[in-house]
Amino acid sequence: MSDVIQTIQNRVSQPRVGLPAPNREQLDTLFRCAVRAPDHGRMRPWRFVVLTGESLKKLGLAFEQAGIAGDPAADETKRTRWREMPLRAPMIIVSIACIKPNPKVPDWEQVAAVATATQNIQLAATELGFGVMWRTGEMTVAPIVREFLGLAPADQIVAFLYLGTPEGESRAPEFQPLDQCVEFRD
Ligand SMILES: Cc1cc2nc3c(=O)[nH]c(=O)nc-3n(C[C@H](O)[C@H](O)[C@H](O)COP(=O)(O)O)c2cc1C
Repeated sequence: MSDVIQTIQNRVSQPRVGLPAPNREQLDTLFRCAVRAPDHGRMRPWRFVVLTGESLKKLGLAFEQAGIAGDPAADETKRTRWREMPLRAPMIIVSIACIKPNPKVPDWEQVAAVATATQNIQLAATELGFGVMWRTGEMTVAPIVREFLGLAPADQIVAFLYLGTPEGESRAPEFQPLDQCVEFRD
């Protein structure tokens, strides 16, 4: 079986990752894979922000502020949990869809292109031996998080990709029975 088919089938989300994160050369490889995603109209709707070190702590403060905005009575345990969420990996790549109105390329297609680019990053990172976890949730729409990342009003966060070196055992990949999702017609 070719490497690419094996990598795709074996990839699993890896919630536990540590140092080292991808270096600059490896990141270049990941982003070269990202920008080869199919992209209707060559819109290039993606933007990627790589966060490490202090900027992960700053994202954590933005998460905490966002959490408090939705739950002003939150106790210190909750606040600490929000603040420490981005510290679960040594690197986060934020995948952003920068949507531009286009009568031939609806918004969802631009988000789909960015999701495809994001999956290219996941697969390439897996192939390089890294663990990746695609996370979204309420923080993707929190105004203070959007402001921290400098988003325009039409921009959408597609993923927080938590990346690093896998720690502990990975789960075995699960395969949905194909007859649940595939049909053949002659
Ligand atoms: C758009 C999108 C959003 C996701 N958001 C989350 C998330 O917020 N938290 C999480 O644990 N996993 C998230 N995931 C990862 C899925 O949970 C994961 O891919 C799924 O459980 C299958 O596991 P596997 O990737 O190991 O096969 C997301 C995946 C996608 C495509």
